[in-house]
Amino acid sequence: MLKYFIMTFGCQMNKHDSEIIETQLIENNYQRVEKPEKAEIIILNTCAVREHSSQKAISIMGSFLKIKKRQNNLFPICILAGCVAQAEKSELLKSLPELDIIIGPQDIYNFSQILNEFLQTKNLLIHCSEDFYYPYEKYYLKRKYQSKFQAFISIMNGCNNFCSYCIVPYTRGREHSRKSEDILNEINYLLEKGYKEITLLGQNVNSYGKDLENEISFSDLLNRIDKFNFDFWLRFITSHPKDISIDLINSYSSFKRVVNHLHLPLQSGSDKILKLMNRKYTRENYKEIIYKLREIKPDINITTDLIVGFPDENEDDFRKTIELVNEIKFDFAFVFKYSDRKGTASVSYKNKVPQNIIEERHNILLNEILKLSYESNKKMLGKIVKVLAEKVSPKDKNYLSGRTSENKVVIFKGAENLVGKFCRVKIREAKSYTLWGDLVE
Ligand code: SAH
Ligand code: SF4
Ligand code: F3S
Repeated sequence: MLKYFIMTFGCQMNKHDSEIIETQLIENNYQRVEKPEKAEIIILNTCAVREHSSQKAISIMGSFLKIKKRQNNLFPICILAGCVAQAEKSELLKSLPELDIIIGPQDIYNFSQILNEFLQTKNLLIHCSEDFYYPYEKYYLKRKYQSKFQAFISIMNGCNNFCSYCIVPYTRGREHSRKSEDILNEINYLLEKGYKEITLLGQNVNSYGKDLENEISFSDLLNRIDKFNFDFWLRFITSHPKDISIDLINSYSSFKRVVNHLHLPLQSGSDKILKLMNRKYTRENYKEIIYKLREIKPDINITTDLIVGFPDENEDDFRKTIELVNEIKFDFAFVFKYSDRKGTASVSYKNKVPQNIIEERHNILLNEILKLSYESNKKMLGKIVKVLAEKVSPKDKNYLSGRTSENKVVIFKGAENLVGKFCRVKIREAKSYTLWGDLVE
């Protein structure tokens, strides 16, 4: 029985893809190990969204290849999968000449055929298809879900937006939606098994279905899932402000399962920068969405993504971002430093912001976000909230870590048998990143 080791970087979509890879390995009787030195097959599923993520992937794969050199034989077979594979293809061999297989995100459902071919021929294989295909309906019947209570469901692949900074459309190809019937069947199957949290995945979920004939809209899909009569939470990522529909916003008045949280990437508060980013909305459009949503659901948690140091971002543009962030009062935000990605439009843009200024703006904005996040968390003090217990706290086995409907992390004292269950927790302490509470019987 051969053993495999898998490591995953990047977004939820990559975590989902690793699960599909593992499904095929387990189906073929491979056994998972937690140390690369113990494995005959090493898989690194990579992210290329920023230069730093690509470099990290190459350096970690370099350390895996040293194991191979030491052992001086076929094993471990070293496989670089995911977005760095798709972005670099055979270029990777310049820095990682001993790689055995390079496999892009569009080929993950073929993973086991590719591995078998390698075992027979022992020759380097590069599989980086441009087009995604979903193998067949009801694939979920054999999928090995990593968790018994939370599941990532891919509803579409790829992205047609070409934001000028972003490599994703080049690594994940064009938008391909999965049939709603298959998605609904998969979710029903999981809910019958007792799953408590379903997260729908897509690079741009709001354009779900537009590439298929006679398919329902994203808002219709959510409404149909929301009507499943089980106690569960429904999450989805990621939404694009230019595509979020009024139907979806209005649906927040009646949603029962969709969580009290929306992640809506803003990227910048300056219209000039938004235009250069090819985001196709203005700060006014963004504000309108938020105000409309808050009219319908005043306490909804809103989080976002922001990029600092985009080419030609001057002090005034940056100030506009700070201003807007404070006006909207986000509950949390991920702040990224702009990174040039080969092949994207913004690489050739003029007036690149010097690295030291990017660092400075990153610190300033992060501080603002931490203040807002602390304010938002403080509002939870004294409240009794529903929390899905996710795991035993790595720091203390008497404590559990879970999340609220708002996606806020809560730490509370509790036994391991509560993991995977909804608990009632009274919030006692608020910090910038986490809440602390006590279980309510
Ligand atoms: N499809 C999603 C996620 C894209 S990647 C979306 O559209 O929101 C996640 C985040 O990474 C983006 O929202 C953006 O803020 C950031 N990002 C993408 N490319 C980047 C780059 N070249 N430099 C810095 N941040 C980037
Ligand atoms: Fe990238 Fe923009 Fe597509 Fe998101 S919407 S994946 S940021 S191109
Ligand atoms: Fe990274 Fe690819 Fe996801 S570049 S963010 S792993 S789509």
